[in-house]
Amino acid sequence: MKLIFLGPPGSGKGTQAKVIAQDYSIAHISMGDILRESIKNGTEVGKKAESFIKQGLLVPDEVVNEIARQAIEKNAEKGFVLDGYPRTVAQAEFIAGFVNIDRVIYIDVPLSELEGRLTGRLSCKNCGSVFHIKSKPPKSGNLCDNCSNELYVREDDKPETIRRRYTVYEKETSPLVDFYSAKTVKINGVGPLETVLASIKKSL
Ligand code: AP5
Repeated sequence: MKLIFLGPPGSGKGTQAKVIAQDYSIAHISMGDILRESIKNGTEVGKKAESFIKQGLLVPDEVVNEIARQAIEKNAEKGFVLDGYPRTVAQAEFIAGFVNIDRVIYIDVPLSELEGRLTGRLSCKNCGSVFHIKSKPPKSGNLCDNCSNELYVREDDKPETIRRRYTVYEKETSPLVDFYSAKTVKINGVGPLETVLASIKKSL
């Protein structure tokens, strides 16, 4: 199974992709997680990506495409869910040259809901688990349920950066819904996590 999860920032791509990858025994390839890890480790990719991410802008295609190709080829047999990639038509055209995607899950959430989701998000720097102060609070204070490390607020989850990310999404990424129209299933991303998950599973 080769899947793409598409949707605006905060629509729940990462939250749902992790569960789907686990339940279907496929790889979870999150471009955002890969880039944040590269920044943390001070790699060349991290140095190139950092200022774009901080500003809420897309990292250039030439930086992310090669990372994506390697991750896709590595997991081609096992299957995968791509989370946060492709994010431009040029990226989608790039992967069309070497992989056939089975299904695109478009998680639809209105802008009015997104800001509260992102300003309330808590992320684990160590294992990447994601929580929310209201909809998915960590069990013990500010510590990760999974690995007990401290949770933090992502630097790009400030209100002004969230708005820029959404504008970039509208301009650069939303055209992918049309690009993949024959393979896309639209999921209502508003509602309890379990309900959204059930809709995604039904569509698969
Ligand atoms: P990335 O990390 O991919 O950010 P994003 O696409 O903006 O998506 P988010 O991670 O913010 O949200 P999500 O949809 O995964 O939601 P989540 O599940 O966490 O990318 C970051 C940056 O990296 C980009 O801005 C760009 O600079 C760069 N980048 C990455 N990929 C790139 C590419 N291909 N090309 C170029 N640059 C790239 O949920 C959000 C919150 O809501 C959580 O707190 C969660 O608990 C909560 N929540 C989830 N579902 C629900 C629900 N149903 N009800 C209530 N709360 C919910």
